[in-house]
Amino acid sequence: MNEEFQTRLASRYDELRQLYCALYPGREDTLPQLLSAMEGMYRARSEDLKRSDRQRESDPGWYRSRERLGMMLYVKPFAGDLNGVRDRLDYLRECGVNYLHLMPLLESPRGRSDGGYAVSDFRRVQPELGTMDDLEALTGDCRRRGISVCLDFVMNHTSEDHEWARRARAGEREYQERYFFYDSWDIPNLYEQTVPQVFPTDAPGNFTWQEELGKVVMTTFYPYQWDLNYANPTVFREMTENLLFLTNRGIDVIRLDAVPYIWKQLGTNCRNLPQVHTLVRMLRIVTEIVCPGVLLLGEVVMEPALVAPYFGTPERPECHMLYNVTAMCTTWHTAATHDVRLLRHQLNQVAALPKGYTFQNYLRCHDDIGWGLDYPFLSQFGMGEVPHKRFLNDYFTGKLPYGASRGTLYNDDERLGDARLCGTTASLCGLETALETGSAAMTEQALSLDLMLHACMLSQSGIPVLYAGDEVGQRNDWAYLDDPEKAGDSRYLHRGDFRWDEAELRNEPDTVQGRLFRGLERLEAVRRSAPVFDADAEFWTVDAGNHAVLVLGRYKNGEKLYGLYNFSPEPQKAWLDETGAYTDLLGQRQADNPGVLTLGGYEFLWLTRRV
Ligand code: GLC
Repeated sequence: MNEEFQTRLASRYDELRQLYCALYPGREDTLPQLLSAMEGMYRARSEDLKRSDRQRESDPGWYRSRERLGMMLYVKPFAGDLNGVRDRLDYLRECGVNYLHLMPLLESPRGRSDGGYAVSDFRRVQPELGTMDDLEALTGDCRRRGISVCLDFVMNHTSEDHEWARRARAGEREYQERYFFYDSWDIPNLYEQTVPQVFPTDAPGNFTWQEELGKVVMTTFYPYQWDLNYANPTVFREMTENLLFLTNRGIDVIRLDAVPYIWKQLGTNCRNLPQVHTLVRMLRIVTEIVCPGVLLLGEVVMEPALVAPYFGTPERPECHMLYNVTAMCTTWHTAATHDVRLLRHQLNQVAALPKGYTFQNYLRCHDDIGWGLDYPFLSQFGMGEVPHKRFLNDYFTGKLPYGASRGTLYNDDERLGDARLCGTTASLCGLETALETGSAAMTEQALSLDLMLHACMLSQSGIPVLYAGDEVGQRNDWAYLDDPEKAGDSRYLHRGDFRWDEAELRNEPDTVQGRLFRGLERLEAVRRSAPVFDADAEFWTVDAGNHAVLVLGRYKNGEKLYGLYNFSPEPQKAWLDETGAYTDLLGQRQADNPGVLTLGGYEFLWLTRRV
């Protein structure tokens, strides 16, 4: 059966070799080691997975169906451990989820784990969550139920407890060469002149002094996360093997964590360097040879112009999927300003991209919301970067005399006025405040906003991904402040235990949980049933003559859809240059003549007609 491997390799060998030689000049001698590692991993791959690889190879767009719906969750707060998740698969099925992103679950030291993003062993599951066998059993169960599983591959760094780091600390040169070590602060100080900071208040600086060694090590994220040196071919090979080890456990989607950071060069900002693209392209080729059913999801939290290049080109693709981070943060900006002009502008940019690009759309994830908005565009409306960020943060942390949002700041860097934001969707939509004050009107408003934002997300092109708990309106978990291991990282505000007691209420139509759950279920069912939501449908935005109302257009196979979203809490009018009869897909109203429509506060409509 090695023939299959050889055939796949043969058709990609020249390019792989060319990229490898360009990245590792003079180290071509190490390429055979990479190839034999790949072959070993191919041999170790189960027949079951190989069968699925072949099927997916013959249907390369297998993951792009409009029926695909994702959810991301942390194993422990959701179900205790991996076996607990297996027991909850019926719930995920009920949510319509067929793509499950399990947040980091590999071994990671307690208290120095960055939510699992500081991995000390890429081949062991955190003991409290279970074992590799449990993970394999879970991915097996998921596969049988048609659920694809995504796992993070934290490739920019290892934990300081990883074996390589321990051996480096013990003075082994070979292992020190897998990281960036310096004998003095001279070079690190030069780097600091051009490299921005990821956690400016929680973990300032990009380097950490190692007392035992009397050396400085590069730590772009937290001091306990040591940056790996991908200029060393051994690092690339061994990390690639780790990646393949995980795919052989049945992982379908590999999330390339913090991928823009993986190549460092003095005098640059150490982000998105050309070598990063070479590395991602090589990973794509490697997976196409060993496990072509596996997808790469790039975590590129950057401005739009820097995101799309991670798709590569049609001839030389890199990631299969990327996060639509700009649409996400611009959506929240729009919720605060009630002005859709920037969102329209961003969605038009997305619409202009090739239809083969697959974005993951989302409202919230495990991270903070960074306000990476298009400030040059906003400046035409008199919105400056620093004051606008301050406004957004004040608005969403409930500091203004109006609005019911409740979030908290993250890495509040007063120097730059650059704080980011944490909070769950429901709390940012005002549900927490509403339920606390017992105001029925506020509750209505929060639910309307929450559903409207989800509807807007669901009608964009790509794969919608829910953040577990959002389907039942889970609020912030302020208890993180009482836990010394979490209190210093406000992202734990939206990483609380899953409230199964509240989720139980999803079947009671008059509860908050029931209304959100059933509301989302409805939207998802409509999305699944109508080809106009396909990834390759035409997609555009419409000027509705009112800055508070976003109108999205979609077209496929003779069917046209208008999605209208009122981002204001007040009723608004929208003008559409249309006269024919439309059907309201959600069945709320007769829309015989959509020329002028009045939408209630935060109301949305999905109107279709045959054209
Ligand atoms: C990614 C993760 C984030 C983590 C960082 C460092 O950005 O999403 O949670 O802190 O990588 O690994």
